[in-house]
Amino acid sequence: ATQASVPEKPCSSITPPYIVLLNNLTKVRKHLKRPLTLAEKILYSHLHDADGIGSGGIQRGSTYLQLQPERVAMQDASAQMALLQFMSAGLDRTIVPTSIHCDHLIQASTGADSDLQRSIASNQEVFEFLESAAKKYGIEFWGPGSGIIHQIVLENYAAPGMLMLGTDSHTPNAGGLGMLAIGVGGADAVDAMTGTPWELKAPQITGIRVTGKLNDWATPKDLILYLAGKLTVKGGTGRILEYFGPGIFNQSCTGLATIANMGAEVGATTTTFPYTPSMRAYLHATRRGPVARAADEAAAKGFLSADVGAEYDELIEIDLSKIEPTINGPFTPDLATPLSKFASFVQENGWEDRLSASLIGSCTNSSYEDMTRVADLARQAKAAGLSSQVPFLCTPGSEQIRATMERDKVTEVLEDVGAVVLANACGPCIGQWKREDIKEGANAILTSFNRNFKSRNDGNSLTMNFLASPTIVTAMAFSGKLTFNPMTDSLKLPSGELFKFKPPSGQDLPASGFALGDVSYHPKPMPDPQPETEVVIRKDSQRLEVLEPFLPHVEDGTVQELPKMKVLMRVRGKCTTDHISAAGPWLKYKGHLSNISENLLITAVNDENGEVNVALDHDHDSTQPAVDTIPKVAKKFKERRQPWALIVDENYGEGSAREHAALQPRFYGCAMIIARSFARIHETNLKKQGVFPLWFADKNDYGRIGSGAVVETTGVADLFAGKSDGTVRVKVTTRSGETFEIATKHTMSSDQIKWLRAGSALNHIRRTVKV
Ligand code: F3S
Repeated sequence: ATQASVPEKPCSSITPPYIVLLNNLTKVRKHLKRPLTLAEKILYSHLHDADGIGSGGIQRGSTYLQLQPERVAMQDASAQMALLQFMSAGLDRTIVPTSIHCDHLIQASTGADSDLQRSIASNQEVFEFLESAAKKYGIEFWGPGSGIIHQIVLENYAAPGMLMLGTDSHTPNAGGLGMLAIGVGGADAVDAMTGTPWELKAPQITGIRVTGKLNDWATPKDLILYLAGKLTVKGGTGRILEYFGPGIFNQSCTGLATIANMGAEVGATTTTFPYTPSMRAYLHATRRGPVARAADEAAAKGFLSADVGAEYDELIEIDLSKIEPTINGPFTPDLATPLSKFASFVQENGWEDRLSASLIGSCTNSSYEDMTRVADLARQAKAAGLSSQVPFLCTPGSEQIRATMERDKVTEVLEDVGAVVLANACGPCIGQWKREDIKEGANAILTSFNRNFKSRNDGNSLTMNFLASPTIVTAMAFSGKLTFNPMTDSLKLPSGELFKFKPPSGQDLPASGFALGDVSYHPKPMPDPQPETEVVIRKDSQRLEVLEPFLPHVEDGTVQELPKMKVLMRVRGKCTTDHISAAGPWLKYKGHLSNISENLLITAVNDENGEVNVALDHDHDSTQPAVDTIPKVAKKFKERRQPWALIVDENYGEGSAREHAALQPRFYGCAMIIARSFARIHETNLKKQGVFPLWFADKNDYGRIGSGAVVETTGVADLFAGKSDGTVRVKVTTRSGETFEIATKHTMSSDQIKWLRAGSALNHIRRTVKV
């Protein structure tokens, strides 16, 4: 199928409501009498209550915004718990258009077809669950083989000026179409899916002014690899990266998406760009003419770019003509080395000069432009009689890309030089790589992916993984050496002649339009929910479990205090969401709360004995041990229906937005956590699950409360009655019988108080729906 023969997509669910957004912006501007950046325009036009900005206005970096995203996208691993939570809210459909993408669970081994069949069989119950839930609630379901979430979103859903949430850290990829796409945990996605305002601290904005033109071998990937080197993995934390300047207007839309994708590597909330002609062209090429025309009008009204004079919290200048191909790694994406210095970098480190595999594609770099540039190099190599010297794997980002590559003979030319084309899925990028050639020991791979933490690709912690543009990854496959520089070096042919690559060239968009490939992958846009559908969860499943609503801590309709709680333990020092809910092998239980809860706090340190994963059970009977692992003691508290509390240290719950870190303690009966301080996102997650977070007014009180102490609140009844002054007193009775009171503070908003009273945000939503 070609562009000419394929009708435009129905666009009612994907054209942002520009008139509403512009009206909201007019309201916001009355309060904020200053020029706005593009990111601010998109964020503030999506405020839940644009009239409700107080006299203090909005301060970037401190004001909490209540936002109304327009769309949610979820990948198959994170969608499981998000859907289980959504189901327990009792709604019969999602409030905003939502899509599910089966991409993370597909393992790469021998090639697309066989890998896909094997992975479907081994993950069948998860895919059945996702598909049946999608059907029931009117969610667009993209099955295994359809492609990688971010590529499909770019091709089908992303639109300039839109605000979208995705349950994956590279959701910002959609920023390539001039929107804000933010990676979140499942509980946040459920906010949007249930129509609950989604909270975000107004990010600071880093402006990046881009001038000049990229040189022959340099690509948008090299811009972001260079920038990652400058900003480091933390440099974008709490910030939106907003690019502007003439250099942006020379880039393809998919090139901009690559830059946006890897903003995640510097910790940025997301990345965006002003509306460009390349975005318009991409929208038309992907059969979204109505979106392009609506965006043209919104742009003419000034919505899709920053105001003149807008101020940024930080300004970075980049001259594209100075960017050279860059290789980042190993083991961290911010270790950037220009290609011209890479050979000496390898030699200085004493690494073996041997490349063991080249991998291209993924959500970061599998655009038509990337693939045609790569094919150009492969054609040059083939004409010279060369073939890849190392395993050369290619992961197309979507069925559309795969089919277009095949139709335009890109696949053929890659296979001619030895490439293996894998399924349209994440595959080796997320460690789903059944690597047979090297199972252990030091070796070096080059990928066009975005992340390169230890063990990420093949599970071997000694595999040095370097990130580069797809063209550099491809060119180096023909030499098999890390020290080869395709811009300057030649390869020796069997004839003895020397061969040197010409700079690659490609096309932004296919001249005859994108081929669609297997259209059975395409879900109906905004399908009607089918309430009679039974969501498939096998009775004996070890991977999926229906999420039972948490019981409220207080009786319905009462304004009483929380019940008396027993302190399970005092946690010492750093306790990230990884400490609270470990990843690795536990990930397969993401949809099974009972099973994954067996990892609760297993790497946390008990402050009373300095030991890891050791808790004391003061109420044990003669058949039970007095000392046990933390999850086992928590489980016993649950069995005894004993509500419990945790005493924790500074910045409790830092790290990712992993909702399991809040769900799991709540599942075992945790009702309250008193901290020296909380990481904000985790604190909100606790509130959502009905765990009451309190801050010590005097941090020295931390050491006064040990395991087995009984804690009782005074002030929660006032909180429920709407009379709180922000403090809660806690009466402590220690194991020796000593009693004292301490002062604590809470940060609950009026909505969050309703969550606590109902036992969780989802309980509250369910009650509201029933009313
Ligand atoms: Fe998948 Fe890797 Fe992208 S895991 S979503 S291809 S970052």
